[in-house]
Amino acid sequence: MVLFALIILVALSINKTYGLDNGLVRTPPMGWLAWERFRCNTDCKNDPDNCISDRLFRVMADIVVSEGYADVGYEYINVDDCWLDKERSFTGHLQPDPIRFPHGIKDLSNYIHSKGLKFGIYEDYGNYTCAGYPGVLGSLELDAFTFASWDVDYVKLDGCYSQPTDMDIGYPEFGYHLNRTGRPMVYSCSWPVYQIYAGIQPNYSSIISSCNLWRNYDDIQDSWTSLESIIDYYGNNQDALVPNSGPGHWNDPDMLIIGNFGLSYEQSKTQMAIWAILAAPLLMSVDLRTIRPEYKAILQNRKIIAVDQDPLGIQGRRIYKHKGIEIWARPISPLYQNYFSYAIAFLNRRTDGTPSDVAVTLHEMGLIAPGGYRIEDLYEDVDYGILVPQTKIKVKVNPSGVVILRANVQPYDPFRQFFPS
Ligand SMILES: *[C@@H]1O[C@H](CO)[C@@H](O)[C@H](O)[C@H]1NC(C)=O
Ligand SMILES: *[C@@H]1O[C@H](CO)[C@@H](O)[C@H](O)[C@H]1NC(C)=O
Ligand SMILES: *[C@@H]1O[C@H](CO)[C@@H](O)[C@H](O)[C@H]1NC(C)=O
Repeated sequence: MVLFALIILVALSINKTYGLDNGLVRTPPMGWLAWERFRCNTDCKNDPDNCISDRLFRVMADIVVSEGYADVGYEYINVDDCWLDKERSFTGHLQPDPIRFPHGIKDLSNYIHSKGLKFGIYEDYGNYTCAGYPGVLGSLELDAFTFASWDVDYVKLDGCYSQPTDMDIGYPEFGYHLNRTGRPMVYSCSWPVYQIYAGIQPNYSSIISSCNLWRNYDDIQDSWTSLESIIDYYGNNQDALVPNSGPGHWNDPDMLIIGNFGLSYEQSKTQMAIWAILAAPLLMSVDLRTIRPEYKAILQNRKIIAVDQDPLGIQGRRIYKHKGIEIWARPISPLYQNYFSYAIAFLNRRTDGTPSDVAVTLHEMGLIAPGGYRIEDLYEDVDYGILVPQTKIKVKVNPSGVVILRANVQPYDPFRQFFPS
């Protein structure tokens, strides 16, 4: 195995950037978002249980609380596209579809707050939303104040039907109006991804000072192919992306699709592990009424959630990639002197149908603290004990699966004896 000790230097050089200062999402947001699973289903007549409606969001909020998702940190219940009426009101205000949201948005927001959760909504910096409903262009101030009057906690602003060149002005302008409402609202932007599609280099220093999170790449779809392409994007572009991430300002590789139709059990474990390494928002888009218990267990894995929510907020990196085997590492707390602890994910992208053995010393992965590390597996109940940097660690990684470890740095005690385990 080749050496890759660069990780520590890189970790120390980041977090010098300053993000949007609204005090929100000091760790990546966690919650439920309708889009990937429920799309723009507006047919409440024939499909009342699955259409985008007041009822869908109330039911999901109920389950987030009753089935233990809230207990492990999932907090936001987020509406996506297709909640709006096709027209603004005669006073120019946004209004929901009157049949699908008969009680209005404030009433839904109140309900979600009554469950101890937070409420998110969707709009678009353009003339229309992606699905063709009214966008905010021309009504930025009014719409920001409308959201505040509905006690919205989180706004996702998409970028269809707008000019990507206008976004450098437009996204900060909408953020200015959100701020002026006086109500703290998480601001999720699609600004960089639309600019990248248009061949424009995004100005990330401007983006991180306006937005709490932003989409960099394609919408996730319900497939392993889609998930792999996202993992590759964040690995291939990590030098540009990692420095932009930190408390209050996050790269967003899009929703968790765990528990839907497209991912196997192993692939679902992979998404959860890599999202934690990426310090990604954890926004489940799944039918919580029908999710199978083994997928629910992945979404509720407290040890992996703790990695995602690590207070240092440093995004991890792909530190090794060869013949279908990848190693991803994220510096996390606690620290001892200048040494980080780490979360390490071994990912097997090979398709030959048997587990692959990976053997690597801690030192080769940049884990060089002289006192060693206490290592545990975050999916399997395996405690490796305390290992020194020279120890070779061996794991078996299933095809399209992952092994994720936590390595907690230990204080250096020159008199401690190490015995081979
Ligand atoms: C939005 O609509 C206005 C009024 O019709 C038009 O002038 C403008 O070019 C449109 N903007 C975009 C980005 O399509
Ligand atoms: C508005 O911006 C100021 C300055 O960045 C910040 O201190 C304040 O918390 C923000 N308020 C809201 C409601 O976002
Ligand atoms: C990026 O935006 C900032 C303002 O937020 C500006 O000062 C800087 O010049 C911009 N950089 C480029 C390359 O346009």
